[in-house]
Amino acid sequence: MFRRKFLATSLATAVALSLTALHGNAWATTPQAAPGDEDWARHSVIYQIYPRSFADGDGNGMGDLAGVVSRLPYLDKLGVDALWLSPFYKSPQADAGYDVADYRVVDSMFGSNADFERLLKEAHARGMKVIVDLVPNHTSDEHAWFQAALKSPPGSPERARYVFRDGQGENGELPPNNWPSVFGKAAWDRVPGEKQWYLHLFDSKQPDLNWDNPQVRAEFEQVLRFWLERGVDGFRVDVAHGLIKAKGLPDLPVEEGRENAGALVGPMWDQDGVHEIYRSWNKVLAEYPGKRIMVAEAWVTPRERLTHYIRSDEMDQAFNFEYLMTQWNAGAFKEVIDSSMALTATVGAPTTWVTSNHDTVRAPSRYGLKELGKHALPGNGIGPATAQPDEALGLRRARALAMLTLALPGSTYIYQGEELGLPEHTTMEGQYRQDPMFLRTQGEEVGRDGCRVPLPWKAGAPSFGFGPGDKTWLPQPESYARYAVDRQEGAADSTLNLYRQILALRHAHALGNGKLQWIDAGKDVLAFDNGDLRVVINMGEQAAALPAGSQVLLSSEALPEPGQLPGNTAVWLKRS
Ligand code: GLC
Repeated sequence: MFRRKFLATSLATAVALSLTALHGNAWATTPQAAPGDEDWARHSVIYQIYPRSFADGDGNGMGDLAGVVSRLPYLDKLGVDALWLSPFYKSPQADAGYDVADYRVVDSMFGSNADFERLLKEAHARGMKVIVDLVPNHTSDEHAWFQAALKSPPGSPERARYVFRDGQGENGELPPNNWPSVFGKAAWDRVPGEKQWYLHLFDSKQPDLNWDNPQVRAEFEQVLRFWLERGVDGFRVDVAHGLIKAKGLPDLPVEEGRENAGALVGPMWDQDGVHEIYRSWNKVLAEYPGKRIMVAEAWVTPRERLTHYIRSDEMDQAFNFEYLMTQWNAGAFKEVIDSSMALTATVGAPTTWVTSNHDTVRAPSRYGLKELGKHALPGNGIGPATAQPDEALGLRRARALAMLTLALPGSTYIYQGEELGLPEHTTMEGQYRQDPMFLRTQGEEVGRDGCRVPLPWKAGAPSFGFGPGDKTWLPQPESYARYAVDRQEGAADSTLNLYRQILALRHAHALGNGKLQWIDAGKDVLAFDNGDLRVVINMGEQAAALPAGSQVLLSSEALPEPGQLPGNTAVWLKRS
């Protein structure tokens, strides 16, 4: 996944890194891609649902699929084209569901397979596509395969599906190599009473699969088919850069006096062998009607390497994390926009913009900080002991950023709550935190709980309307009342209504399919044309002049003086 440690000396590098036919199945649903919409991955707005925290249908404090179904009208009205659901499969939830115990079964905590079927059908009926999360780098330690491996002897076929090795030292008491887990501590756990250890690049409860084993490859092709046959429109591929490890599992080079933990380069990341896997999956997806897509979650460096994942015979999209990690600075944004579009063009793929997700500090909180520092990087949440963001400034910037991002050609992801301007829960006490990253580092790393807090739907209700009762699996800050959907519904200038207008105009002007043409603008200001729209964003603090006679279609803030664009504000103008 990502870099665990932020190294002060390496911000520059860090920022640079950033970067069958459908069987007669009882619950197969109609494939959505309409004729002529084969290209939906190139321009769609895809909304990320983190099922634990979206909406709770039964009141147990945990979001569920019934909750998602009940809010489909809300998503439809928002105007998104597709949904991506983070994992809802059977799991002991050691990493919030990214530890899968059964890839074909919906965890009872989220509902049933029939609930998923309903969700898919109803989303499709509203014209929204649905992609699901695929977690192929590791399973849960509670997966039947891993349980069988533990019960089988070293060298057995059961163990060969995972990465078991003898430990070093006389009695195997030392781990097989020096690899660190992304979540802290070593990436190896010893099998009790044995010389053997197993590899887990993430939590101890997430053993890495051995992708050199044909059984693993065959099984995942079957898992893809299982969900494709049910009618899903694609997959977000978790840790797409991690599946293949360098032969012999060589030590990670450790520079003197500096821990190299979680760096994006090393024998466990971005090995060329991963691409053969995605080429085979591409062929599987192509067997199904409609355009089914794959999006890579790949944290790789140098950034050119990200394009390998989106060659025409591999995946359709790769999250542009470089963009997510950009400092609030016009020059930095211009550079990342230009280079992202130039790089993806080399392989004929679209750019896939993203500004928030379930692993990173929410954009309004990130950009409300004086210095992004390590908070630009995923996993580095903001806690009570950290410098706190300026909430109003952050919100203002996030609104402007939405108008920049959603005006860019390409596909864009919106993380649930982003459309509310929802901030991170930055003062959550350690006792509530559940992220394995926080737990494995004894709180040294704040982790990701702050961006995963249940959504506020109704200001005056218990759990702010997240569920029928007052329970929420993570505590909600009081400030969430201000961001609740019902409060924003009726307020013309709310962030929710801004997003609705942005999305409606984006569609009407086909911005996702458009072309960007830069216009000279002053320092701190970016301006470009996309079709018949001109986009101007002022990332500075001082007001800047707008072109004479501008006709403003939409602005992220009220414009107090005609012809002037205040700081941290964006506008969409009609081109004359
Ligand atoms: C990805 C997910 C993250 C998870 C990790 C391990 O990076 O986005 O939430 O912890 O993979 O599966």
